[in-house]
Parts: sequence; structure tokens; C-alpha cells
Amino acid sequence: MMTDNSLKLYEQVVHYLVVRIEAGEWKEHEKLPSVRSLSELLGVHRLTVFKAYQELKERGNVYVKDKSGYYVSPADPSPVTDQADDPAVSAWLHWDSLARVQSLEAEFQFSKSLIDPALLPNRYWGELMRDLLDLYPRLLGTYSTIQGDLELRSALASHLTTRERFYLSADEVLITSGAQQAIDVISRSLVRPGDRVLMERPTYGPAMEIFRKQGAKLIFTDIHPDGYDLEQIERLMKQEKPRVFYMTPTFQNPTGINIPTEQRKQLPELAEQYGCFLVEDDSTYDIYFKEKPPAPIFTYDTTGHTLYIRSYSKYVVPGLRIAAIMCRPRFMPGLQAVKALTDNGSPLLNQKLFLRYFQSPRMHQHLSKLRTALQLRMEVMEQCLQQTDWTWTRPEGGLNIWAELPEGVDTGRLLHRCMEHSVAFVPGTVFDPSDADASRKLRLSFSYAHEQQIREGMSRLIALAENT
Ligand SMILES: Cc1ncc(COP(=O)(O)O)c(C=O)c1O
Repeated sequence: MMTDNSLKLYEQVVHYLVVRIEAGEWKEHEKLPSVRSLSELLGVHRLTVFKAYQELKERGNVYVKDKSGYYVSPADPSPVTDQADDPAVSAWLHWDSLARVQSLEAEFQFSKSLIDPALLPNRYWGELMRDLLDLYPRLLGTYSTIQGDLELRSALASHLTTRERFYLSADEVLITSGAQQAIDVISRSLVRPGDRVLMERPTYGPAMEIFRKQGAKLIFTDIHPDGYDLEQIERLMKQEKPRVFYMTPTFQNPTGINIPTEQRKQLPELAEQYGCFLVEDDSTYDIYFKEKPPAPIFTYDTTGHTLYIRSYSKYVVPGLRIAAIMCRPRFMPGLQAVKALTDNGSPLLNQKLFLRYFQSPRMHQHLSKLRTALQLRMEVMEQCLQQTDWTWTRPEGGLNIWAELPEGVDTGRLLHRCMEHSVAFVPGTVFDPSDADASRKLRLSFSYAHEQQIREGMSRLIALAENT
């Protein structure tokens, strides 16, 4: 049991119990092992187990009954009954929610597609922060505009226009709190209950939840190492008339695939022909290992059917949660109306701090170092995978490896076993609930754990997978 040396002994006992309760080993209102039997089983002092139970009691995970022992508390918060068929609540409760899986605490963390904070220029940000209030003395007393700070929108528009051929003005940029909010704002602005939404299979799980929550009917097109099947997409657009095609064509999440330029050029034409809007989610654009990825679809769209999401949250300054929607002005009233209802504009402090970093040469230097560090971690993870008979495609960028395990392995069940050994990853069904083979797949993020943790965690994971 004692696997995680960074935790105190009683915390390891807490972890041991929480993992098993979540895995259903003890059900709600079921009696847990006595302090004595657990201390014997785990080889720790009774007081340690007692302290662990006290901690769980305070957290609400267990309760004490008539001095007879500790019992599993009912799940909290218990869902409101009329939310039982809500897709987002259901995904959360059944561990099909990426956000919930990513919240698992583990020493060997391959579920979070986030950057290891040790790879980020924390000290430099501290300096920027200290200067910020001198530059903008009224910053903390001021709301942002709903669309976002004009100075930041202008900086983004001019950067993308001069460097990446976007041809944008500040009026065509809306700042959001992360790409996640951008997808939600677009969904609530464009999609009505009953509308079809076309998605890649597999796809970024939370996007499915967002569109489902909006009442959309999801339809899927498969994504292959060489891109989409455009004939299938055309057929679907013709027959199903999707309102939106949500896609992550650059370092696709979870597969890491890049859609080739030729297809990028054709997609806006199809969108125009069939009256479908393209939502191009680009959350890891700068994380490439050898070559820059192909130019975004947005840059090939001459008829304004694409809404482009660029996130600077994942890998630039995660704590600030800055992302932007770039689109032609006709979408702005709808987007602004929803953004206003959501939060009346993203925090100005975050936007100004991000702006200062974005305009400094340090950001570009840092991105270059980050690419090298992440490539190294990806290669270490690949070396570990080479000892297995799993299949995967080497990603050319992004933060994840998408792997398929041999027949008979269920990665959802494997996750529960792995959690007992403090290893976390995301099971394939989170990205593709419709494909029976998805339960053999998993997403491994190589961006959060350092090299040594990757080696140790992967060796645990591989051993557990082989013994299932
Ligand atoms: C494809 C995709 N979209 C959106 C997001 C959410 O990103 P953000 O942190 O910018 O909200 C992620 C995060 O993993 C992602 O991979």
C-alpha cells in the first residue's frame, strides 16, 4: 500500500481508503474495516489509522454510527433528482467526465494534460506582476469590457495577422477564460436544442458534454493518422445538416493527429456549401516537436464560416486561463450576449498580466525551451511503451500519447487498480463513448510528470495492465 513517499503516513491511509471507496469496494452505508484490522493489514500504528478516519470524517467521506465503527457516507453532493438524465451530471457521476478523472490525486500523474509548473517561468511572472499596478494603478478597481481588453485584443490581432496570416482586427477577437469557456460560449450562441453537431471520433470529451448539454444531437466522423474522410464529412453535412463541426485539427486531443493542409483548405468550402459553421479548437498550437503545424483552417476560410479558438491557457500561463475566439463580426453580438451572461467579461488583471508576458521576448524564448523539455518527456514515455505490445502513433506535438491495449483489457477498470498504486491516466471511453474498442484505449499525458516519474509510473502501469 505504501507507495507515495511524498505523503505522510496517515495521508497514505486516507488515499488507500478513498481509492477503494471510489472504486466501489465498499458501497454507501457499508461498514469499513475497524481501526485494529486495518492497522494490522497495512502494518501501521492504530493511531495512524484513527487519524486517517478522523480526516475522512471531517471531509464527509465517512461517518460514525452508534460507536460501532466507520461507514461510507453517501455520495456528496447527491444529484438533484431531476438532473439524473443531465448528460453533464451523468458523465460526472460515472467518471466519464474528463474534469473528474483529471481531478484524481496521484503521484504518477498522466491524466492531466497540463504543463508541469516546474517548466514554467514562475519567477519572471512574479516580476511582471509586481510592476503591473504601477503601470495600471486602477487595475483592481476596473471591470474588463465584455469582449475583452482592447489593448490585448489589438495585440493578439496584430500578432496573428503579421505572423500567421490571420487578417484580423481587434473587433474580431473575444477574450474568454480558457478554451473550455470558448466552446461553451460558442455552443450557447449557435446551437439550439435538436441541432446536429458534427464531431471527430475520438474527441475532446468535455466538448461532447457541452454540446449535449445544449440539447444537440451528436454525429461523428472518424479521424485517422492521415486526417479526415472528407467524403464522409460531405455526406454527413448533406444528410444531417449539422449546425456546427467541432474539431481539434492540430495535435488533436486525444490522438495527436494533424489534419493535412489539403483538407484544411477544403473544409471551409464544404462548410460554406452546406451552411455549417466550423469551430476550430487550437489549444496546443505552439507545442510542436520538429516542425510548426500546418496553418489553421481559419486562415484558408474566405467566407467567414470558421470560429477559431486559440488558447494560451494550457501552456503559456495556465493560471490566467486566457483564450480567445477569433471570428468574423457577424458572430460577435451572439457571442458577446452569452459571454455577458456567463461572467460579464474575463478578469482584467489576468488579461493585462498576460498581455505583458505576450509582448515580452521571454514568452517566445520560454516556448522554445518548453518544446524541447516536452519532446524529451514524450520520448521517455515512448521508450517505456516500446516494452509493450500496445499500439500508438508518435505525436508530433501536443501533450498526449493515445495508446491501444491488447484485447481483453478494460482501461476503465485498469484505472481503478492503477489508482491504488498512485498512477492516473484517462480511459478511452471519456473521448469516445460510442466505440466498443475505446475501452481498450487510454490517453497518457507526458507533460505533467517529470522523466523519473514517467519511468516509474509507466512501469507500474504496464505491470498492472499485464496482470489484468
Ligand atoms: C482540445 C481542447 N480544448 C479545450 C481545452 C480546455 O483548455 P483551457 O485550459 O484553455 O480551457 C483543452 C484542454 O485540455 C483541450 O485539449
